[in-house]
Amino acid sequence: MFVTPGADNADDRIDWAWTAMPATHALADDLSGSGLLRGRRVGVSLVLEPKTAALALALRDTGAEVAVFSAVSETDPAVAEALSARGVRVFAPGGAGSAETDADNAAGILDWHPDLLIDDGSHLVRLAHTERRGTLETLRGAAEETTSGVRPLVEMAAEGELRIPVIAVNDARTKGLFDNLHGTGQSCVLAIADLLDPVENPGRTLPRRDVIGAVWLVIGYGPVGQGVARHAAALGAQVLVLERDPVRALAAAHDGYGVVSSIADPEVDTVDVVVSATGVWHTVGLDLLTRVREDTVIAVAGGIDDEIALDDAHAAGWTVRRVEPDLSAWSAPATPAKIVYVLADGGGVNYTAAEGNPIEVMDLSFATQLVALRQLCRDGLEPGLHPIDTAAEAEVAALVLEQRMGRTAVDIPTDPGRVGGAAQHWSTHRYRSESSV
Ligand SMILES: NC(=O)c1ccc[n+]([C@@H]2O[C@H](COP(=O)([O-])OP(=O)(O)OC[C@H]3O[C@@H](n4cnc5c(N)ncnc54)[C@H](O)[C@@H]3O)[C@@H](O)[C@H]2O)c1
Repeated sequence: MFVTPGADNADDRIDWAWTAMPATHALADDLSGSGLLRGRRVGVSLVLEPKTAALALALRDTGAEVAVFSAVSETDPAVAEALSARGVRVFAPGGAGSAETDADNAAGILDWHPDLLIDDGSHLVRLAHTERRGTLETLRGAAEETTSGVRPLVEMAAEGELRIPVIAVNDARTKGLFDNLHGTGQSCVLAIADLLDPVENPGRTLPRRDVIGAVWLVIGYGPVGQGVARHAAALGAQVLVLERDPVRALAAAHDGYGVVSSIADPEVDTVDVVVSATGVWHTVGLDLLTRVREDTVIAVAGGIDDEIALDDAHAAGWTVRRVEPDLSAWSAPATPAKIVYVLADGGGVNYTAAEGNPIEVMDLSFATQLVALRQLCRDGLEPGLHPIDTAAEAEVAALVLEQRMGRTAVDIPTDPGRVGGAAQHWSTHRYRSESSV
């Protein structure tokens, strides 16, 4: 379920999010009981919308001191103000801001000397390892929310540069299998559909672009690309996938989508909507912007800076005209000028032009973040990148199964000693059983 931006005031939206996060509350209650976070400073760096605000308040209830950082482009200013009014330190703009605002706020939350961080994109962890190294004296660890944040941490860990333990929450099964796949797929496709809906936008000049019957090119077939493809197809789009990993490209073909091997493929001529789901810089390069046909719509589901090479387009003489707050027309310097439409200025469309992922998956992601904080406090991890404890994953999933579906986790008795079957005779596990009975 989505919260409709602007439907009510920010306090109401935070309160609504608060009531819809039962797993987060259950784990926050546990943390409160254990006292593990009492008196600790926890810095939260996440897109600042009502669900994040509710997480910050739940964390505060554990006895932690909490501060939130969010970049200008990822902040709902009304939520920032409402959260600040409830006594949480907010390093995010309650109004307009600039790149300097972001730099000041990021430095500000680190100078507050958090003990623990929930980071998203590893922005704060990387800042702490470069321009704010003093922070590392007191920082005990961090939990990283997303794929594009884990990637630089993998590199830093391999080079021996990571000076604190970081848990790759993104890679927990209770995060990536739900948030990246289901939540982001759903929220990005619905955000794009809303932005292109002619009923929502009467009188516009943009050609009608229903999802049904349109050709969508999804670039990248990781969990996010898979989710986008799945939800677009469910709404009637014809989906093409461009994926550079041949195994994932093959998986896309088995999932029933068309697979193109490069932007030169003739099928790219038919594309109505391009979605980048890579989190890789310049995925939609100037060559693809030039290649697609007039009126193609381009959006980002991944969400790093310049995932669409609008900087190159600008340098090559393309001009931009804002049509609607989250829809711009980019004109190529050709005669006649070709126009392509870019959604949300090339930012992640679900959190820039809508209100992020459904609360059910964010409850799961936040619950996973809380067990990661517990692991950091309890387990005394070495500096480096760590997976989440698998027992904690199972605990979170069982909790959510019970809370949302009234089901307890399946309890099938196994021989705890030799669950892999090594204790059985070598001849077992044939594909066809020859029963001796
Ligand atoms: N918008 C959101 O709310 C949200 C939520 C979760 C994750 N994300 C972000 O979405 C991005 C994707 O996440 P994921 O977990 O699917 O990542 P992933 O790394 O598992 O998958 C990305 C895929 O893109 C492919 N790829 C990269 N560059 C390519 C190119 N130029 N052409 C074709 N294929 C290319 C890679 O081979 C890979 O298979 C990340 O940046 C992640 O942080 C966004």
